[in-house]
Amino acid sequence: MDLKQYLAQKRDMVEGALEAYFRDSEKGPAARLFSAMKYSLFAGGKRLRPILCMAGAEAVGGDPDDVLPVACALELIHTYSLIHDDLPSMDDDDFRRGVPTNHKVFGEALAVLAGDGLLTEAFRWMSSQEVISSVSIEAALRVINLIATAAGCSGMVAGQAVDIESEGKEADQGLVEFIHRNKTGALISASVRAGAIMGGGDEAAIGAIGVYGDNIGLAFQISDDILDIEGDPGLMGKEVGSDQKRGKITYPGVVGIHESRAIGERLVRDAVEALEPFGKAAQPLREIAWYIIKRKR
Ligand code: IPE
Ligand code: IPE
Ligand code: MG
Ligand code: MG
Ligand code: MG
Repeated sequence: MDLKQYLAQKRDMVEGALEAYFRDSEKGPAARLFSAMKYSLFAGGKRLRPILCMAGAEAVGGDPDDVLPVACALELIHTYSLIHDDLPSMDDDDFRRGVPTNHKVFGEALAVLAGDGLLTEAFRWMSSQEVISSVSIEAALRVINLIATAAGCSGMVAGQAVDIESEGKEADQGLVEFIHRNKTGALISASVRAGAIMGGGDEAAIGAIGVYGDNIGLAFQISDDILDIEGDPGLMGKEVGSDQKRGKITYPGVVGIHESRAIGERLVRDAVEALEPFGKAAQPLREIAWYIIKRKR
């Protein structure tokens, strides 16, 4: 299969749906809030989490169109996390997705609110009639619970809190693994798992896809750490060297860059191995796993 073409086709689906949702939203007294939300949302992310959600559905024989609203909601949650992650009180970064960060353009108050708006809107979409009628109400509720767990204080928010609190401190592999599994791995894993649930996978399939997701989720943040050292800021759309500047706990910092690469590769192998029971329908997931550690952006 042609992964590049697969990613482009799925990305187009996500862009189209997101644009339709936000069409004509910049009206009325709160127009600037919507401008701030759209500014970061449409600055050109990879759309990896929604793509994983659709690929997870396909792997179990589901229809990617049915999961598109939830896939888009995952991108709203992710974009909120980026806006808040870049704030002066967090990572204090100036560039994101190739443009100045949200607070640089709209100010800190609106950047916080744009993040709040995106996060909350995601849950409104996921609980909408559209989702309930394309997947069952049971599947919708299960997915909302799963995503809330991954995004909140049992997942991403906890990871972000420990990431910030650990700046400048010594860390062992257990701590960096906790941070990375939570701040990044949890939402990635929930994305692909949500797709498998909504796609109608049985419990064994959902479990196997969960193992895949946990492994690529951690690998994704390890490769983000490596890219922060040796990536090309022009390609990535964000600055490099930001981790060292802030004394962040990273895999290369704790185990070295060579071992970080080896761990990333092992995680991807384990992820692909978990897909053993699946046939051709899981090929995109297999290729995405390798892409995650080979990517340049
Ligand atoms: C960046 O995520 C933040 C992390 C969780 C490491 P992505 O690398 O997926 O960023 P976009 O969505 O493509 O901008
Ligand atoms: C971000 O991790 C994780 C979340 C946004 C939840 P990083 O702080 O490493 O992400 P980048 O490098 O700024 O994209
Ligand atoms: Mg951060
Ligand atoms: Mg950051
Ligand atoms: Mg980073």
